[in-house]
Amino acid sequence: MNGIIVAIDGPAASGKSTTARRVAQRLGYSHLNSGLLYRTIAWLGLRDGWIDDANRFPDELEELRITMDRRPPGFVVRVNGEFPGAVLAASQTAVRASHVAARADVRECALGVLRAAGTDGGIACDGRDIGTIVFPGAALKIFLVASAEERARRRVEEQGIEPDRERLQLEMSRLRERDDRDSARDLAPLRRAPDAIEIDTTRLTPDDVVDEIVVLAIDRGARMVDDICDSV
Ligand code: CDP
Repeated sequence: MNGIIVAIDGPAASGKSTTARRVAQRLGYSHLNSGLLYRTIAWLGLRDGWIDDANRFPDELEELRITMDRRPPGFVVRVNGEFPGAVLAASQTAVRASHVAARADVRECALGVLRAAGTDGGIACDGRDIGTIVFPGAALKIFLVASAEERARRRVEEQGIEPDRERLQLEMSRLRERDDRDSARDLAPLRRAPDAIEIDTTRLTPDDVVDEIVVLAIDRGARMVDDICDSV
Protein backbone atom coordinates (compact mmCIF):
# COMPACT_ATOMS: atom_id res chain seq x y z
CA MET A 1 0.00 0.00 0.00
CA ASN A 2 1.30 3.45 -0.92
CA GLY A 3 -0.73 5.32 1.65
CA ILE A 4 -3.98 4.94 3.54
CA ILE A 5 -7.53 4.98 2.21
CA VAL A 6 -9.62 8.00 3.22
CA ALA A 7 -13.33 7.21 2.70
CA ILE A 8 -15.67 10.20 2.44
CA ASP A 9 -19.42 9.56 2.29
CA GLY A 10 -22.45 11.79 2.51
CA PRO A 11 -25.59 13.01 0.75
CA ALA A 12 -25.65 14.90 -2.57
CA ALA A 13 -23.86 18.28 -2.54
CA SER A 14 -22.53 17.85 1.00
CA GLY A 15 -19.09 18.74 -0.35
CA LYS A 16 -17.68 15.23 -0.78
CA SER A 17 -16.02 15.61 -4.16
CA THR A 18 -14.41 18.99 -3.52
CA THR A 19 -13.20 17.80 -0.13
CA ALA A 20 -11.89 14.46 -1.39
CA ARG A 21 -10.07 16.15 -4.29
CA ARG A 22 -8.36 18.65 -2.00
CA VAL A 23 -7.51 16.12 0.70
CA ALA A 24 -5.93 13.94 -2.00
CA GLN A 25 -3.90 16.92 -3.27
CA ARG A 26 -2.62 17.77 0.19
CA LEU A 27 -1.53 14.19 0.87
CA GLY A 28 -0.13 13.53 -2.62
CA TYR A 29 -2.89 10.93 -3.11
CA SER A 30 -5.36 10.40 -5.95
CA HIS A 31 -9.06 11.28 -5.78
CA LEU A 32 -11.36 8.37 -6.61
CA ASN A 33 -14.87 9.73 -7.31
CA SER A 34 -17.14 6.68 -7.17
CA GLY A 35 -20.19 8.63 -8.39
CA LEU A 36 -18.53 8.91 -11.81
CA LEU A 37 -18.99 5.19 -12.27
CA TYR A 38 -22.77 5.29 -11.77
CA ARG A 39 -22.96 8.42 -13.91
CA THR A 40 -21.02 6.64 -16.68
CA ILE A 41 -23.37 3.65 -16.71
CA ALA A 42 -26.42 5.97 -16.74
CA TRP A 43 -24.93 8.16 -19.49
CA LEU A 44 -24.09 5.17 -21.70
CA GLY A 45 -27.47 3.52 -21.09
CA LEU A 46 -29.21 6.74 -22.06
CA ARG A 47 -27.06 7.37 -25.12
CA ASP A 48 -27.29 3.82 -26.41
CA GLY A 49 -30.97 3.40 -25.52
CA TRP A 50 -30.94 0.49 -23.04
CA ILE A 51 -31.35 2.33 -19.73
CA ASP A 52 -35.11 1.70 -19.59
CA ASP A 53 -35.05 -1.66 -21.33
CA ALA A 54 -35.28 -4.29 -18.59
CA ASN A 55 -34.44 -7.08 -21.03
CA ARG A 56 -31.33 -5.49 -22.56
CA PHE A 57 -29.89 -3.82 -19.44
CA PRO A 58 -28.22 -6.87 -17.78
CA ASP A 59 -26.56 -8.05 -21.02
CA GLU A 60 -25.38 -4.59 -22.01
CA LEU A 61 -23.93 -4.06 -18.52
CA GLU A 62 -22.12 -7.37 -18.64
CA GLU A 63 -20.55 -6.45 -21.97
CA LEU A 64 -19.14 -3.15 -20.66
CA ARG A 65 -15.38 -2.99 -20.30
CA ILE A 66 -15.17 -0.38 -17.59
CA THR A 67 -12.16 0.69 -15.53
CA MET A 68 -11.06 3.61 -13.39
CA ASP A 69 -7.41 4.29 -14.19
CA ARG A 70 -5.18 6.22 -11.83
CA ARG A 71 -4.07 9.51 -13.40
CA PRO A 72 -2.84 11.57 -10.42
CA PRO A 73 -4.33 13.71 -8.98
CA GLY A 74 -7.39 11.61 -9.86
CA PHE A 75 -8.78 8.62 -11.73
CA VAL A 76 -10.39 8.61 -15.15
CA VAL A 77 -13.26 6.36 -16.15
CA ARG A 78 -12.73 4.40 -19.33
CA VAL A 79 -15.61 2.48 -20.86
CA ASN A 80 -15.21 0.40 -24.03
CA GLY A 81 -12.15 2.50 -24.87
CA GLU A 82 -14.01 5.84 -24.46
CA PHE A 83 -13.28 8.51 -21.86
CA PRO A 84 -16.68 10.15 -21.21
CA GLY A 85 -15.28 13.10 -19.19
CA ALA A 86 -17.29 16.33 -18.92
CA VAL A 87 -20.62 14.93 -20.21
CA LEU A 88 -21.02 13.12 -16.87
CA ALA A 89 -21.55 16.36 -14.95
CA ALA A 90 -25.13 16.94 -16.21
CA SER A 91 -27.69 16.95 -13.40
CA GLN A 92 -30.00 14.74 -15.48
CA THR A 93 -27.21 12.14 -15.53
CA ALA A 94 -27.00 12.30 -11.72
CA VAL A 95 -30.72 11.64 -11.37
CA ARG A 96 -30.56 8.66 -13.74
CA ALA A 97 -27.40 7.50 -11.94
CA SER A 98 -29.27 7.32 -8.66
CA HIS A 99 -31.83 5.01 -10.32
CA VAL A 100 -29.28 2.64 -11.85
CA ALA A 101 -27.25 2.67 -8.60
CA ALA A 102 -30.09 0.82 -6.83
CA ARG A 103 -29.64 -2.27 -9.07
CA ALA A 104 -27.75 -5.29 -7.71
CA ASP A 105 -25.91 -5.96 -10.98
CA VAL A 106 -24.71 -2.34 -11.20
CA ARG A 107 -23.49 -2.36 -7.58
CA GLU A 108 -21.60 -5.60 -8.14
CA CYS A 109 -19.93 -4.18 -11.23
CA ALA A 110 -19.02 -0.94 -9.39
CA LEU A 111 -17.62 -2.82 -6.40
CA GLY A 112 -15.16 -4.71 -8.60
CA VAL A 113 -14.05 -1.60 -10.48
CA LEU A 114 -13.59 0.54 -7.34
CA ARG A 115 -11.73 -2.11 -5.35
CA ALA A 116 -9.40 -2.73 -8.29
CA ALA A 117 -8.76 1.03 -8.52
CA GLY A 118 -7.98 1.28 -4.81
CA THR A 119 -5.71 -1.74 -4.38
CA ASP A 120 -2.54 0.31 -3.97
CA GLY A 121 -4.08 2.68 -1.39
CA GLY A 122 -3.10 6.34 -1.37
CA ILE A 123 -6.62 7.47 -2.26
CA ALA A 124 -9.36 9.76 -1.03
CA CYS A 125 -12.55 8.11 -2.25
CA ASP A 126 -15.99 9.72 -2.06
CA GLY A 127 -19.48 8.27 -2.46
CA ARG A 128 -22.40 6.82 -0.51
CA ASP A 129 -21.13 3.39 0.60
CA ILE A 130 -17.36 3.76 0.61
CA GLY A 131 -16.86 3.36 4.37
CA THR A 132 -19.59 0.74 4.72
CA ILE A 133 -19.22 -1.55 1.67
CA VAL A 134 -16.46 -0.63 -0.77
CA PHE A 135 -13.55 -0.07 1.64
CA PRO A 136 -14.83 -1.13 5.09
CA GLY A 137 -11.20 -1.40 6.25
CA ALA A 138 -10.36 2.24 5.35
CA ALA A 139 -8.05 3.81 7.93
CA LEU A 140 -10.14 6.98 8.02
CA LYS A 141 -13.87 7.32 7.39
CA ILE A 142 -15.64 10.65 7.18
CA PHE A 143 -19.37 11.30 6.86
CA LEU A 144 -20.13 14.81 5.59
CA VAL A 145 -23.51 16.44 6.17
CA ALA A 146 -24.94 19.93 5.53
CA SER A 147 -28.42 21.45 5.70
CA ALA A 148 -30.65 20.94 2.66
CA GLU A 149 -30.80 24.73 2.13
CA GLU A 150 -27.03 25.08 2.07
CA ARG A 151 -26.60 22.09 -0.23
CA ALA A 152 -29.16 23.51 -2.68
CA ARG A 153 -27.40 26.89 -2.58
CA ARG A 154 -24.05 25.27 -3.40
CA ARG A 155 -25.50 23.27 -6.32
CA VAL A 156 -27.17 26.34 -7.82
CA GLU A 157 -24.02 28.46 -7.47
CA GLU A 158 -21.95 25.66 -9.01
CA GLN A 159 -24.10 25.95 -12.12
CA GLY A 160 -23.50 29.69 -12.23
CA ILE A 161 -27.24 30.42 -11.80
CA GLU A 162 -28.67 33.23 -9.66
CA PRO A 163 -29.82 31.53 -6.42
CA ASP A 164 -33.33 33.04 -6.22
CA ARG A 165 -35.98 31.48 -3.95
CA GLU A 166 -37.77 29.55 -6.65
CA ARG A 167 -34.56 28.04 -8.00
CA LEU A 168 -33.40 27.06 -4.50
CA GLN A 169 -36.73 25.39 -3.72
CA LEU A 170 -36.54 23.37 -6.94
CA GLU A 171 -32.95 22.26 -6.28
CA MET A 172 -33.79 21.39 -2.68
CA SER A 173 -36.65 19.13 -3.68
CA ARG A 174 -34.43 17.43 -6.31
CA LEU A 175 -31.67 16.80 -3.75
CA ARG A 176 -34.16 15.51 -1.17
CA GLU A 177 -35.73 13.14 -3.67
CA ARG A 178 -32.32 11.72 -4.60
CA ASP A 179 -31.20 11.45 -0.95
CA ASP A 180 -34.41 9.63 -0.05
CA ARG A 181 -33.90 7.17 -2.88
CA ASP A 182 -30.21 6.68 -1.96
CA SER A 183 -31.03 6.17 1.74
CA ALA A 184 -34.07 3.96 1.31
CA ARG A 185 -32.69 1.43 -1.15
CA ASP A 186 -31.95 -2.09 0.14
CA LEU A 187 -28.51 -2.36 -1.42
CA ALA A 188 -25.61 -0.28 -0.13
CA PRO A 189 -27.81 2.58 1.12
CA LEU A 190 -26.41 5.97 2.03
CA ARG A 191 -25.47 5.40 5.67
CA ARG A 192 -22.81 6.53 8.08
CA ALA A 193 -20.41 3.71 9.03
CA PRO A 194 -20.35 3.20 12.82
CA ASP A 195 -16.67 4.18 12.93
CA ALA A 196 -17.03 7.23 10.64
CA ILE A 197 -16.44 10.74 11.92
CA GLU A 198 -19.33 13.07 11.08
CA ILE A 199 -18.56 16.63 9.99
CA ASP A 200 -21.35 19.17 9.46
CA THR A 201 -20.07 21.48 6.71
CA THR A 202 -23.04 23.91 6.73
CA ARG A 203 -21.07 26.74 8.32
CA LEU A 204 -17.55 25.63 7.43
CA THR A 205 -15.41 26.74 4.50
CA PRO A 206 -13.93 24.04 2.25
CA ASP A 207 -10.50 24.88 3.75
CA ASP A 208 -11.77 24.25 7.31
CA VAL A 209 -13.11 20.84 6.33
CA VAL A 210 -9.99 19.83 4.41
CA ASP A 211 -7.68 20.93 7.27
CA GLU A 212 -9.66 18.88 9.77
CA ILE A 213 -9.55 15.74 7.61
CA VAL A 214 -5.84 16.10 6.78
CA VAL A 215 -5.02 16.28 10.51
CA LEU A 216 -7.09 13.14 11.12
CA ALA A 217 -5.44 11.37 8.16
CA ILE A 218 -1.95 12.12 9.47
CA ASP A 219 -3.01 10.80 12.84
CA ARG A 220 -4.06 7.56 11.09
CA GLY A 221 -0.76 7.09 9.27
CA ALA A 222 -0.86 9.33 6.21
CA ARG A 223 2.15 11.51 5.45
CA MET A 224 2.09 15.06 4.09
CA VAL A 225 3.56 15.56 0.61
CA ASP A 226 6.34 17.76 2.08
CA ASP A 227 7.34 15.02 4.57
CA ILE A 228 7.60 12.55 1.71
CA CYS A 229 9.79 14.95 -0.31
CA ASP A 230 12.02 15.59 2.74
CA SER A 231 12.73 11.91 3.26
CA VAL A 232 13.91 11.09 -0.30
O1 CDP B 1 -21.97 14.71 -6.53
P1 CDP B 1 -23.27 14.10 -6.11
O2 CDP B 1 -23.26 13.65 -4.69
O3 CDP B 1 -24.45 14.92 -6.46
O4 CDP B 1 -23.47 12.81 -7.03
P2 CDP B 1 -22.50 11.57 -7.29
O5 CDP B 1 -21.60 11.33 -6.12
O6 CDP B 1 -21.87 11.74 -8.62
O7 CDP B 1 -23.53 10.34 -7.34
C1 CDP B 1 -24.59 10.26 -8.28
C2 CDP B 1 -25.51 9.11 -7.82
O8 CDP B 1 -24.77 7.87 -7.88
C3 CDP B 1 -25.98 9.22 -6.36
O9 CDP B 1 -27.19 9.93 -6.20
C4 CDP B 1 -26.11 7.77 -5.93
O10 CDP B 1 -27.37 7.24 -6.22
C5 CDP B 1 -25.11 7.03 -6.77
N1 CDP B 1 -23.91 6.63 -6.00
C6 CDP B 1 -24.00 5.49 -5.22
O11 CDP B 1 -25.03 4.85 -5.16
N2 CDP B 1 -22.90 5.05 -4.55
C7 CDP B 1 -21.75 5.72 -4.58
N3 CDP B 1 -20.69 5.25 -3.92
C8 CDP B 1 -21.65 6.92 -5.34
C9 CDP B 1 -22.77 7.36 -6.04
